[in-house]
Amino acid sequence: MSEIGVLGAGTWGTALARTLCNAGHTITLWSISKEEVESLSTSHRHINLPNTEIPQGIRFTNSIENACKEKQYIICAVPSVYVRSTMAMASSYISDEQVIIDVAKGIEEETLLSMTEVIRDELKKCGPLNAQIVALSGPTHAEEVSQDLPTTIVAACDDIVIAEKVQELFNNTCIRVYTNTDVRGVELCGALKNVIALAAGISSGLGFGDNAKAALITRGLAEIERLGIAMGCQGQAFNGLAGIGDLIVTATSKHSRNNLCGYLLGQGYQTSDAVKQVGMVVEGINVLPAVIKLSLKYEVDMPITRAVFDVVKGNKTSSEAATMLIGREKTTELQKTIMDINFEKAVLRNTAMRGDQGMKRVITYGTFDLLHYGHINLLRRAKALGDYLIVVISTDEFNWKEKHKKCYFTYEQRKALVESIRYVDLVIPEESWNQKRTDMHEYHVDTFVMGDDWKGKFDFLKEEGVEVVYLPRTPEISSSQIKRDLYDANSIDGTSVVNHDDIDTDPR
Ligand SMILES: NC(=O)c1ccc[n+]([C@@H]2O[C@H](COP(=O)([O-])OP(=O)(O)OC[C@H]3O[C@@H](n4cnc5c(N)ncnc54)[C@H](O)[C@@H]3O)[C@@H](O)[C@H]2O)c1
Repeated sequence: MSEIGVLGAGTWGTALARTLCNAGHTITLWSISKEEVESLSTSHRHINLPNTEIPQGIRFTNSIENACKEKQYIICAVPSVYVRSTMAMASSYISDEQVIIDVAKGIEEETLLSMTEVIRDELKKCGPLNAQIVALSGPTHAEEVSQDLPTTIVAACDDIVIAEKVQELFNNTCIRVYTNTDVRGVELCGALKNVIALAAGISSGLGFGDNAKAALITRGLAEIERLGIAMGCQGQAFNGLAGIGDLIVTATSKHSRNNLCGYLLGQGYQTSDAVKQVGMVVEGINVLPAVIKLSLKYEVDMPITRAVFDVVKGNKTSSEAATMLIGREKTTELQKTIMDINFEKAVLRNTAMRGDQGMKRVITYGTFDLLHYGHINLLRRAKALGDYLIVVISTDEFNWKEKHKKCYFTYEQRKALVESIRYVDLVIPEESWNQKRTDMHEYHVDTFVMGDDWKGKFDFLKEEGVEVVYLPRTPEISSSQIKRDLYDANSIDGTSVVNHDDIDTDPR
């Protein structure tokens, strides 16, 4: 059992503290407010969770030192606008051995940092430099968690082992925890879904029905994903619990403050009156300016977010914003360009029509991390075996799940590098071992190629009517060898010149 400090005795901090205390952990729950601590410790009820009894075992405190010192886990559960100030107070009591779990959802307006980034930034100032920070996010209304209703959530951390520790900590008979390594994606989804929930609320406030709500959820997710991909997210979160999961719950539930706040805006309330009426933090309103800045910085079109921003700022009425959204320029759901789709179709048609004399299609599979001469040499020789070369690159999730292997470059980066090679005609993702048999038919493959380190391993594909070829590897080239060689070559007396400032570029 663990010693856990919870910072923030709001609805969520209290619900989590209760759950963990009932699971047998020792909990210290901190609040900045004296009244809150007094009321919780005397009544054992939270004003926003009236039907929930708060366990006697929880210690309540106004001392952030007591809440942080010697705890294995520290949960940051204050509203996003107080995360920095709270961590500034806490950082000198935190050490590298502790795991910090952020549950606040937002983006800091001035810095555009996510909440785990804000925490790291504060800790670096006078606390630990290498603290492990996990984002815990998903469709989790405190009102339901505090009634032990079934709930799922995602623990996201670059280091999967730490994410698994947090999974273990929170998993119980009512809560099922998943892990993810796309921290930025998970956090972005958690912050931006609140804006889409405001939109869904506005739509209900205007008297629109389920069709409009479904449209806002679907197109809202599309714009979150567009921004996320532009910001370098791995793409592992959008269709998961922190993405579509949290979006569905926040945009449809009666417990959602963002949805309620939107409803009041749709009914014609001023923003300040709507927020006052909700009476709790409305993170969608807090995060809006940051999202607008991000959409401008990364040049991503976010029409729903922009419309909500205009309503919140009073630049447009809710019905003007709705008219604008429905009357936007026509567009498509397709994500590939029509040119790409037509090209692929034409290639497939030609291959099918021209039979034996047609284009010969070759396929190869790999990770292609740190693309090097060995890779390019293999691709060049593979292409020489036919006319059209398809390269199937293993996704980050597949690498991790099946090979427990992490890449230097993300799937999207590795794909971009391989696509830039002139021998390569098409790059597609490898998501499972099983897809090979179907790929042979879907892509009308004639020849399957791998390096001879896999010799014999894919002979079974001959049953699918393809030729299986193992090409000799380029001698003495491997990604790990290159990393080792470069490290040795660059170091002089144990150091290497890495900074441009250290180089004299003037020939005199
Ligand atoms: N409520 C939920 O169901 C839920 C679920 C998942 C995530 N979250 C996220 O958790 C975070 C907290 O939400 P909540 O619902 O608990 O909020 P809340 O409105 O219930 O809590 C407000 C809390 O903020 C504290 N506070 C006020 N001023 C402060 C200051 N200057 N410094 C530190 N703390 C201060 C108050 O003491 C109070 O405890 C939000 O980011 C929210 O998005 C909430």
